[in-house]
Amino acid sequence: MENIMVVPTTPIEGQQPGTSGLRKKTAEFMQPHFLNNFTQATFKAVGGLTGKILVLGGDGRYFNDKAAQIILKMAAANGLSRLIVGQDVLLSTPAASNLIRQRKADGGIILSASHNPGGPEEDFGMKYNMANGGPATESVTDRILEETRTINFYQIVEAPDLDLSKLGIQQLGQMIAEVVDPVRDYHSLMETLFDFDAIRDLLASGFSITVDAMHAVTGPYAKAILEKDLGAPTGSVLNAVPLSDFGKGHPDPNPVWAKELMGIMFADDAPDFGAAMDGDGDRNMILGRSTYVTPSDSLAVLVANAHFAPGYKGGLAGVARSMPTSRAADRVAEKLGIDAFETPTGWKFFGNLLDAGKVTLCGEESAGTGSDHVREKDGLWAILLWLNILAVRKQPVAQIMEEHWAEYGRNFYSRHDYEGVDAARAKEMISALSGSLDSLPGTKIEGLVIQAADDFSYSDPVDQSVSPNQGVRIMFEGGARIVFRLSGTGTVGATLRVYLERYEDSPELLQQDPQVALAPIIRAAEKIAQIQKYTGRDAPDVKT
Ligand code: G1P
Ligand code: ZN
Repeated sequence: MENIMVVPTTPIEGQQPGTSGLRKKTAEFMQPHFLNNFTQATFKAVGGLTGKILVLGGDGRYFNDKAAQIILKMAAANGLSRLIVGQDVLLSTPAASNLIRQRKADGGIILSASHNPGGPEEDFGMKYNMANGGPATESVTDRILEETRTINFYQIVEAPDLDLSKLGIQQLGQMIAEVVDPVRDYHSLMETLFDFDAIRDLLASGFSITVDAMHAVTGPYAKAILEKDLGAPTGSVLNAVPLSDFGKGHPDPNPVWAKELMGIMFADDAPDFGAAMDGDGDRNMILGRSTYVTPSDSLAVLVANAHFAPGYKGGLAGVARSMPTSRAADRVAEKLGIDAFETPTGWKFFGNLLDAGKVTLCGEESAGTGSDHVREKDGLWAILLWLNILAVRKQPVAQIMEEHWAEYGRNFYSRHDYEGVDAARAKEMISALSGSLDSLPGTKIEGLVIQAADDFSYSDPVDQSVSPNQGVRIMFEGGARIVFRLSGTGTVGATLRVYLERYEDSPELLQQDPQVALAPIIRAAEKIAQIQKYTGRDAPDVKT
């Protein structure tokens, strides 16, 4: 019987879990007791571990291996009955969500800072998922925070490290540690949703794809499913080996960070379809030959075409999107006669709607799309659904987009991010904005008339909980909109996000460049919020 140590400790500042768990500089996570404190606080916040089953995995980033050994020894000391861990601590976020559900686990821990860079100088993160497979709700993350403030000891067994490269069962004290193939169960789930034969035929017909795993966790998943099973030629998956520093890249699937893929997709000999996924595999970017599909449009297209895939042939119960996501999907929902929900930013808000069967598909403008098959967004799922649709419709991506806009009109959309700005000044900007909301309606700016302005407050239709202050919305006559909010996932200073949208349905204006189509809205955003005055920046760092 291993020796259980009770280690006295004191609270450590800055352990406030945000929209997606706790994210910090790796060095902060590696300081003595930091991870241990947060882990013990989490175990206490979920009511202890006695007799429970947990899932553990991560995106392969630096410190995952060491963190996993600490967590599993602490789990054993806290009475966990079984820990199901991905081989080499690998599990994409959606695969972890699936395992929690399939194995009826009580929850899971995912070691990832998602799309943030990894390495000793970069970021690390840890998040807790609940028995439904979804991110911890606000009440749980609030309890974790409370526990981190009062913690005075943690428990850990003294034992040698387990060999997590070895599949199968190992024993640690009273706890069973089961090392599983990270891909297998996820792969089986995908087979139940999509017409693999149709996709196989599409790929056999010469339809070419390039999928960028960005040196992160999805490489093994994409290789196994797209290349080995569906028959895409070897090499169709780029950067397929997970590296602890993601090859020094920034594993965020957007046109800025997935530059290599953008180059391939906009070259003369571009493949028919391109996609990228983020560090932990929950985000996706979709491309056609010389075509970039915005995440908001991707959600709308998936809602309109999901019935082509066997898993959704009976239609959708409803659709949900985060508030800043463009309203393109709402237009499709209206036509289909299904409900459309608007939730705050962060996947956890979709959980209740999915659990209650109110929605089948959900999406966020930040490159997240998913469905009720798990309780996380799912990058590879989105890619497979697109491929299934392309296999049935047999049209290029660009044509699918054109036909979509011709039918529903186009919501021109862009997000401008100002990263690492002074946090205090950014907060001042948002509170100045919130303070001026009542005076805005009726004001004319850049030829646009403000119709309404508010600070978004969400009442959950399932549990009636209220989440206030989720972003300032400025709505203009004619359907244009600006949203201002501060990121909850940044690790340095504050990140200001400005979301810009305008609806257009004149056929001759559907093909404009979004930044051009949005120019007056962009100027209005500066005038309304005085971004330059508060942030000292005259241009955003990233436009997506
Ligand atoms: C960002 C995205 C949000 C997403 C989250 C986790 O959060 O905007 O849509 O759910 O990452 O991937 P933010 O930094 O804006 O709080
Ligand atoms: Zn992610």
